[in-house]
Amino acid sequence: MTAILEINHLKKSFGDNEVLKDIHLTVNAGEVISIIGSSGSGKSTLLRSINLLEKPSGGEIIYKGENVLEKGFDIPKYRTHLGMVFQSFNLFNNMNVIENVMAAQVTVLKKSQEEARKIALENLEKVGMARFANAKPAQLSGGQKQRVAIARAISMNPDVILFDEPTSALDPEMVGEVLQTMQGLAETGLTMVIVTHEMEFARDVSDRVIFMDKGVIAEEGSPEEIFGSPKEERTKAFLSRFLRT
Ligand SMILES: Nc1ncnc2c1ncn2[C@@H]1O[C@H](COP(=O)(O)OP(=O)(O)OP(=O)(O)O)[C@@H](O)[C@H]1O
Ligand SMILES: [Mg+2]
Repeated sequence: MTAILEINHLKKSFGDNEVLKDIHLTVNAGEVISIIGSSGSGKSTLLRSINLLEKPSGGEIIYKGENVLEKGFDIPKYRTHLGMVFQSFNLFNNMNVIENVMAAQVTVLKKSQEEARKIALENLEKVGMARFANAKPAQLSGGQKQRVAIARAISMNPDVILFDEPTSALDPEMVGEVLQTMQGLAETGLTMVIVTHEMEFARDVSDRVIFMDKGVIAEEGSPEEIFGSPKEERTKAFLSRFLRT
């Protein structure tokens, strides 16, 4: 197995509030990892620390053998290798769908318009949004916007895509189409780290499930282990609380 990311002793504090405490996590090529846990447990902070939207307070993040926190490391270039899909889509509303998917390919990866358009169309096809190529984001449903955001992320040909609750801002009837799109990507061998409250999805699609509690990885294992026979009391408590609501 090839490790894309190796996270060791990662810490993050906001003032006195230590939000991540000694996190260890390896992300191997082709793996789908789900991160579950209560609100405030540090899931988003972990993703944001991995792509350096937050500056870690300690520890190391090794990307393909290089510590990204070392002085002189090329952070903008590193970020182009990590895709990010947020709860809130973040599409440019003044651009149409295909322009949204092309933009960073042209400005960041320096692709020609022609090549960027070709890749954008292929990926819009993959997420079932090719026929909306000329629509404006305002004309789309939340689920459609999120599928465009996913097409935009994969068009950068990232080594790993980090998803932060990609379905939690959606109306319930839109959730399925986005999860289905993500499942399709997982099957193509894309490396994915997904913060989610969709337990059924996490169980069906992940290779590994991470349960976070109060800034630590309280338990990790296969979906069968975590959902079928969790070992830690706090995992059991979270899952039973979760399944009740
Ligand atoms: N920019 C920030 N400044 C100060 N505190 C922050 C900041 N971002 C997050 N926190 C704090 O860090 C803790 C963890 O937040 P985080 O957003 O990572 O949790 P989460 O697990 O993603 O929760 P949720 O499921 O609600 O999204 C919280 O106590 C939060 O208040
Ligand atoms: Mg969060």
